[in-house]
Amino acid sequence: MRKYFIHTMGCQMNEYDSLRIAAVFDKIGFTEAEEMEEGDYLIVNTCSVREKPQHKAESAIGRFRQIKRRRPEVKIGFCGCVAQQEGENLLKTNKDIDFVVGTDGLHRLEEVVAHVEAGERLSDTQVNEGGLEIDIFNREVSVSSFVTIMKGCNNFCSYCIVPYVRGREKSREQSEIIDEIKYLADKGAREITLLGQNVNSYGTALTDPVSFPELLDKVSDVEGIKRIRFVTSHPKDFSNELIDVMRGNDKICEYLHLPLQSGSNAVLQKMNRKYTYDHYKERVLRAKEMIPDLALSSDFIVGFPGETEEDFQSTMKALEEIRYDMIYAFNYSTRPGTKAESFNDDVPLEVKKMRLAKLLDAQKRIIAENSAAYQDLVVEVMVEGESKKGAGQYSGRNRQNRVVNFSSETILSSGDFVNVKITEPRPNSLLGERV
Ligand code: SAH
Ligand code: SF4
Ligand code: F3S
Repeated sequence: MRKYFIHTMGCQMNEYDSLRIAAVFDKIGFTEAEEMEEGDYLIVNTCSVREKPQHKAESAIGRFRQIKRRRPEVKIGFCGCVAQQEGENLLKTNKDIDFVVGTDGLHRLEEVVAHVEAGERLSDTQVNEGGLEIDIFNREVSVSSFVTIMKGCNNFCSYCIVPYVRGREKSREQSEIIDEIKYLADKGAREITLLGQNVNSYGTALTDPVSFPELLDKVSDVEGIKRIRFVTSHPKDFSNELIDVMRGNDKICEYLHLPLQSGSNAVLQKMNRKYTYDHYKERVLRAKEMIPDLALSSDFIVGFPGETEEDFQSTMKALEEIRYDMIYAFNYSTRPGTKAESFNDDVPLEVKKMRLAKLLDAQKRIIAENSAAYQDLVVEVMVEGESKKGAGQYSGRNRQNRVVNFSSETILSSGDFVNVKITEPRPNSLLGERV
């Protein structure tokens, strides 16, 4: 049997899309390769959100090329956001690539592969102007599964390439989403993470409009689903209705990813984020007040064009005030075609690096302090599997999305829910024992 190998980069949307790619190859009689070297089709699913992941895509193709040199029958596929951005150019500049499929072409992938099998090289980066339709696809289901509920983005933050590589925002019909979640629950999924660039604007443009809080309630009615998470919320649209449904529906986990990006209003305005830090803080305080034990995470960009030391200090101050449980922080990286491309990228790399290090350092201390509060607490853990440490050791997550490694005297399976007493709270994982 011929095999396929997929290398996935970028966000959870790409992880979801890679499952769709895998399903197409499974359907036409391939099996998944464990190692890249065994693959007859080598596929990279790329991210272009910053320069670094884009470089990684190029180096993945470099490794694929070496395999193709030894086995010329190997086919190379280039998918995802860089594919959408560069399109046919990739075929011209890289003779080893056999096909390019953009972010909106996965439902045509089977056809594309048929052409490749016939010896053609082709690119499909056509954008589908209709709604977002994704048929239920066969997959190995894990206890914690992703479901895409919308695609694209209309926000045009000045630094961001996503609206260009994923197109305008479109929501998936509620019935399609629920059907997919029923399918996943049937196959053993217990936790669902709903994916969208701005889930708060879900459903408003559907012919039968549904709000995101309404969708959450519908998802929680699916038998077998015990936990619900979602990413990403945009602070400008994070509504009281959503806070209310998070508070009232006990399947929705106490975890919120609400990217602030910067603590400076001047920078936020240049980023076109459409909120001030005061608005953000008001939203967070309300959410924390209404939802006990809420964990918060955020993304930050440091060294945005024009960011002064004072602006950066505002970000540091915000970090201390909000006290996140987790952050993702990046140096600003100019992306082609975005508004910020025309801004003067005037913060020297050395300064960006220093600011990033300071931010991460402060967060390290905050997370150590936050973690210490877990000492001796009993938390609900969904078992995800045995831990690397071996027999009797398991790994899972609590409702706040913290990794919990623990011991159990009885044998457990993925998807079991257990109570664990935390004996050693470490910053990156909590250690404990089942009680
Ligand atoms: N839709 C999500 C984010 C998607 S991109 C949201 O609005 O929050 C994920 C993160 O990458 C962003 O939150 C931002 O922090 C970072 N990012 C996006 N473009 C970037 C750029 N040009 N340079 C550095 N970081 C960037
Ligand atoms: Fe990018 Fe902003 Fe859209 Fe997020 S909301 S995907 S950061 S444009
Ligand atoms: Fe990257 Fe595309 Fe996701 S640019 S972050 S893979 S939407």
